[in-house]
Amino acid sequence: YGDASQKIDYVFKVVLIGDSAVGKSQMLARFARNEFSLDSKATIGVEFQTRTLVIQHKSVKAQIWDTAGQERYRAVTSAYYRGAVGALLVYDITKRQTFDHIPRWLEELRSHADKNIVIMLIGNKTDLEDQRAVPTEDAKEFAQKEGLFFLETSALEARNIEDAFLTVLTEIF
Ligand code: GTP
Ligand code: MG
Repeated sequence: YGDASQKIDYVFKVVLIGDSAVGKSQMLARFARNEFSLDSKATIGVEFQTRTLVIQHKSVKAQIWDTAGQERYRAVTSAYYRGAVGALLVYDITKRQTFDHIPRWLEELRSHADKNIVIMLIGNKTDLEDQRAVPTEDAKEFAQKEGLFFLETSALEARNIEDAFLTVLTEIF
């Protein structure tokens, strides 16, 4: 892919979901601006950022939506999922609970989003390998059973972030 010029062929809405503090906002900051912050504030409501890239000779504007993992800060669910063609379902590999909640997030996603939505399960924070609480195999197995793509990432080290978003965007095509 490369930098796109003026003409946009497609606009793809992709949503980020998962528990609070798993790293959704920092994954987005890494993808959209190649930035990362360790003192990231919890998201309140909804934010989105865009990045335009070229995929298979077409210029694609990726519009990535990010909301709060915390229930009390969340936006209206149906509006958040409306028109989404891709989703990144994120947990923190060092916090078992965030992985245990994935089936709930998946259920919410499936009940509100288009049935053809492309979903990728993401285990974030692989730079904290010494604190790992979720074996890669467990997540891989779950993803396979549910028909999801799966990757482990680190927003801090910029590892697999590009791949995660690009796989979803390419698959939407
Ligand atoms: P909510 O907005 O509350 O839903 O949280 P969030 O999922 O957006 O989490 P956020 O991106 O704000 O990150 C939470 C904390 O984890 C921050 O301190 C980040 O700096 C940190 N963090 C995010 N990604 C990584 C990562 O890959 N590795 C490490 N070590 N820390 C990370
Ligand atoms: Mg956030």
